Amino acid sequence: MRFSDSFVQEVVDRTDIEELIGRYVTLKRGGSNLMGCCPFHSEKTPSFSVSPSKKLFYCFGCQAGGSVITFVQKAENLDFPEAVEYLANRAGIPLPRESEDPSAERGVSRKRVLEMNLEAARFFRACLFDPNIGREGMRYFREDRRMSEATVKHFGLGFAPNSFNMLTDHMHRRGYTDEELIAACLCGKSQKTGRAYDYFRNRVIFPIIDPSGNVVAFGGRVMDDSKPKYLNSSDTPAFKKSRHLFALNFAKNDCAERMILCEGYMDVIAMHAAGFSSAVATLGTAITPEHARIFSKYTKKVIISYDADEAGQNAAKKAMRILGEVGMDVRVLKMNGAKDPDEFIRKFGADRFRRLLEESKTGFEYQTERVLARYDLSLGSDKIKASGEICALIADYWSPVEREVYLAYASQALGLPVDVLKNSVEQIRRKNKREMVARESREAQASVKNFGDRINPEASTDPRAVSAEETVLGLLVIFEEYRTAVERGEVRLREEDFVTTFHRRVFRAVMDRHASPSGFRFELLGMDFEPDELGRIERMEIARQQLSQNGPEVFRSAVRVLSEISEGKARSGEDLNAHLAYLREKKAKLHKGKVEDK
Ligand code: CTP
Ligand code: MN
Repeated sequence: MRFSDSFVQEVVDRTDIEELIGRYVTLKRGGSNLMGCCPFHSEKTPSFSVSPSKKLFYCFGCQAGGSVITFVQKAENLDFPEAVEYLANRAGIPLPRESEDPSAERGVSRKRVLEMNLEAARFFRACLFDPNIGREGMRYFREDRRMSEATVKHFGLGFAPNSFNMLTDHMHRRGYTDEELIAACLCGKSQKTGRAYDYFRNRVIFPIIDPSGNVVAFGGRVMDDSKPKYLNSSDTPAFKKSRHLFALNFAKNDCAERMILCEGYMDVIAMHAAGFSSAVATLGTAITPEHARIFSKYTKKVIISYDADEAGQNAAKKAMRILGEVGMDVRVLKMNGAKDPDEFIRKFGADRFRRLLEESKTGFEYQTERVLARYDLSLGSDKIKASGEICALIADYWSPVEREVYLAYASQALGLPVDVLKNSVEQIRRKNKREMVARESREAQASVKNFGDRINPEASTDPRAVSAEETVLGLLVIFEEYRTAVERGEVRLREEDFVTTFHRRVFRAVMDRHASPSGFRFELLGMDFEPDELGRIERMEIARQQLSQNGPEVFRSAVRVLSEISEGKARSGEDLNAHLAYLREKKAKLHKGKVEDK
């Protein structure tokens, strides 16, 4: 989808940058800007700034920067049009009609896939409720899984018949082509004939519905022990499994206090049926940072409720880390006497499960218990190891209050005085801090170097020209009067005056946008540049801001440097010495001018 400039502007205007970025980063006021820890590189000292008035962000550490659109592009891993769509949806701005979308003719559009999915969901449901076709599926849900009819209907569950063509024929009758059905992952493509065949066969079906109510994908489970147990839609134009959560369409209405993360469809359904409607699950994949960001959008606290077995508990540990990284209050539920929440609720009832939820441990308690379980505290050597590991856990908490609370807890659990443990925690913290500072400065140096090379590979060819170019561009981006001066020819500056290709591109884009009916807006540069490139342009802008008092003189002298250099190139056939003398003389004059100004 290619959006018009005015649509992009409206989306930017109606997005509150502080609120948007505040969902990813804790921002604190520092002067006219807001500061926080950068979400795009790992740091413990804030170098990420947001300017609410200019609606731009910039990280002084990794030099990521740009508009609200750039931010969403990077944070949600979207391309420019996707990020615009995302923000439009968020702000409740209706998208332009699809017919205006030239890209829709290539490939199958998201909208078309959603239409097909809705039709397929209706088909699967009708099959489940048709006794001639869906008897076995219905029996599985109602008897094996003890679901009520209301639950089956609530989740829109279905049944895929044991046939290679029933869905395909049905969809053909509705006007969908083989190609479209394959793109939607409703059909597989036959190796021999190249024709489409039903992808889900003889399976009960779980439709996956996004928070806006679109059917984005399906999961299908066998009804016996055959393999594979689950078949899930692979990624389509409407679905990315790392970005969706099962039952979020319901959970989003009951998530204020907390959400529950489970392993699979069946656990989620059992929990909702028992009244815990904030339960969701990932879709046949471990939790990703993208999922964690979805949680952080909806709630502050997540209770992880995975299977009781070793695999489930290891997965819980990973989930704890990923959710902790986005600032979630993470708890882990501990279950005895059942292999998973579905079985637990069936065996012991909803009230007992509610108690488990309330007793769920904080990450710290949970991890401490796991450490203690590995050691025998009556042995001196074990006690030393255990306390070392537990102190290392405590040292990771940044809030002194939290550390105090956990120290008291650890002192009890280990039978050691608080002071002794506290000393050891402080020692670990000092060591960690030294290592962190060293690592951050190494990373910062590495990233500055690589960054420069990648975005403007010619940057090292002529440092003087490059620095003048950056000055000129930074000022052009900030001040309309310079753009106008260049446009009217009051300042002689042409594309050819720029030495590096990247800067030439920036100059052209800035001036083209300036001349366009909608005028120059920083955000619109996102159409012409990658997020990383935009960060670089913003760096030029920020560097200029600090000098803006002397703006006009700085601008003119930088432009002079550029025209000298390009004149120099034109004269390269002439006597080199004469030319160098000429340059020196000019430079001296320039320098004198500057001194007189002050
Ligand atoms: N899963 C999957 N593919 C598999 C097995 C599992 O995608 N081959 C995913 C599904 O999302 C499933 C979740 O992992 O919902 C949990 O798996 P499991 O507990 O094995 O599924 P259940 O249906 O709960 O099976 P059981 O009746 O054995 O508890
Ligand atoms: Mn299970």
